[in-house]
Amino acid sequence: MSGLKILVTGGAGFIGSSLCERLISQGHSVLAYDSLFRGNKSNLSALAGNQRFQFMQGDVRDVERLDEAIECLDGVDLIYHLAAVNGTKWFHDAAHSVIDVNINGTLRTLELAMAHDARYVLASSPEAFGEALQQPIQNGNEMTFTDPSMHQRHSYGASKYLDEIACQHAAREGLDVRIVRPFNAYGPRLLGDEYGQVVAMFFQAILSREPLQLHNGGQQTRSFTWIEDIVDGFMLTGLQEKGLQGESLSGCALNIGSTEEVTIQHLQERIFSLVSHDETWGKDLPQIEDSQGYHGDALRRLPDCSQAITLLGWSAPTSLEQGLHLMWSSLRS
Ligand SMILES: NC(=O)c1ccc[n+]([C@@H]2O[C@H](COP(=O)([O-])OP(=O)(O)OC[C@H]3O[C@@H](n4cnc5c(N)ncnc54)[C@H](O)[C@@H]3O)[C@@H](O)[C@H]2O)c1
Repeated sequence: MSGLKILVTGGAGFIGSSLCERLISQGHSVLAYDSLFRGNKSNLSALAGNQRFQFMQGDVRDVERLDEAIECLDGVDLIYHLAAVNGTKWFHDAAHSVIDVNINGTLRTLELAMAHDARYVLASSPEAFGEALQQPIQNGNEMTFTDPSMHQRHSYGASKYLDEIACQHAAREGLDVRIVRPFNAYGPRLLGDEYGQVVAMFFQAILSREPLQLHNGGQQTRSFTWIEDIVDGFMLTGLQEKGLQGESLSGCALNIGSTEEVTIQHLQERIFSLVSHDETWGKDLPQIEDSQGYHGDALRRLPDCSQAITLLGWSAPTSLEQGLHLMWSSLRS
């Protein structure tokens, strides 16, 4: 399929900007819509001047501005909804905004999709499973949240959980809705400020020669997924008419992640090893400081991607080793 009119909310963000680039390269017309709360127009600089690309600054809860965006696109066939307040520190510091943006943004864009009968793809999260006591994470697992008086970490995960409910409801009402859950995407544009995310924070500590914070000894595990593999997953989920066996994709909820599970300490060691073998950098490595980390931080986050494999033929081919090399080279260039 080419030549679709596609709205990408959160289009100036880390994943959204790479998704916009790929959609344009495949012949689609794209409008990236973003409040620039955390995204940056510089992420979209490669698309400046492209006739099929537009950027609009706006809030995803603002229905009039969203209508203007659809007018600028001259209609819409597909909405990728990625706009959200993302970054762990926000979940604790700004729970009210996280809930407001993430839930109301999804409701408003779902209504927009319904009004235009457009296909809809939600960027959900493995955090929709809350404490995720059962691993690997797969559909049908319990979604378990802690008492909100203890901490507000799950303002994010619970908002994604409610987003998924709204999407499944819309699918039952007849809208073509698909859900993607990326697992720890990383790549050159990932932000490494105090709000996250860990791979970029580690590289940032090296580049700025600041101490590197390792939460709780770094024994928690994650599955890090290279940005281009994540974008492949979004592309297939949004653009495939049907699954590989001709199944309807509406209502599907797909984990998109590497199945290479590593501890955060192991991640730090791999990054240090990579950097110390780079002769242009030398052996200059930051001090490691153990810190307490955040309440509610999952001990493991491992995806079961069998549905993405079966329905789309998707899996993540890039190893962590390869991805870290690519990211370091890009940060140094
Ligand atoms: N990066 C990951 O590993 C990961 C993992 C799981 C889920 N996700 C989800 O994928 C999506 C994209 O994540 P990302 O890593 O690119 O994050 P990001 O923060 O880079 O992108 C989100 C974008 O949404 C924009 N935004 C925030 N509030 C907005 C508002 N009110 N109106 C309009 N735009 C607004 C931000 O400015 C930002 O550009 C998010 O929905 C996130 O929750 C990401």
